[in-house]
Amino acid sequence: MKKSKQDLVIAIDGHSSGGKSTYAKTIAKELGITYVDSGAMYRAVTLFAMENNLIRESIIDEKELVRQLDRISIEIVFNPEGARYETWMNGKNIEDDIRTVAVSSHVSHVSKIREVRETLVDLQREMARDKGVVMDGRDIGTVVFPDADIKIYLTAKPEIRAQRRYDELKEKGMEASYNEIHENIMDRDHQDSTRDISPLKKAEDAVELDNSSMTPEEQMVWFKDLMEKKFGELK
Ligand code: DC
Repeated sequence: MKKSKQDLVIAIDGHSSGGKSTYAKTIAKELGITYVDSGAMYRAVTLFAMENNLIRESIIDEKELVRQLDRISIEIVFNPEGARYETWMNGKNIEDDIRTVAVSSHVSHVSKIREVRETLVDLQREMARDKGVVMDGRDIGTVVFPDADIKIYLTAKPEIRAQRRYDELKEKGMEASYNEIHENIMDRDHQDSTRDISPLKKAEDAVELDNSSMTPEEQMVWFKDLMEKKFGELK
């Protein structure tokens, strides 16, 4: 039986700022299925903690954050007007607020908390129920969807990732320092790969793609080739 696009689960994992979300969005658009940015959810919980005074001088009040987890409602909504996916928390569009350097510098610590992960993994599985989905993150192919149809482990050199992130922030007119971003990326690589629960690692059955010197078009050619080898034609 031919596989239908609406049943596909595609997991894209990899380091920070490796171009996962752009890649995942392009794939979702190409296939006409849903895109879910799981990192945005960890960022939303981090923003919630910051706004509710649960992070002071870089120390997280974990107990209180866990106690308040059920006060956080997160949605990822496609806004046809700007043709972009936006993250909403408790009825408010927080897409820009979760991309600041301040949120980036706390998010790795928040994402180490077991209960935060359990809550968000449940939500991620719920978001993919009965539909085709492309989800990017750190543990999508290893923990969230171990039976995903396609698993891609995306990598790129840290200097290239820092430069891309810098360009992205500048383009949005946001404050940015290359050195600060580079340092943050190195720190997050370390935190994400060495944490006890669900550390970032390549799933055994994932295909690795180093996109350091690839254009977005080349990455899509690579993806289509991978799909064709695996499924032939899709319904
Ligand atoms: O993809 P991102 O850089 O926006 O992710 C933000 C942080 O969230 C990242 O430092 C690690 C964490 N994260 C995670 O632990 N598990 C995921 N599935 C996605 C993100």
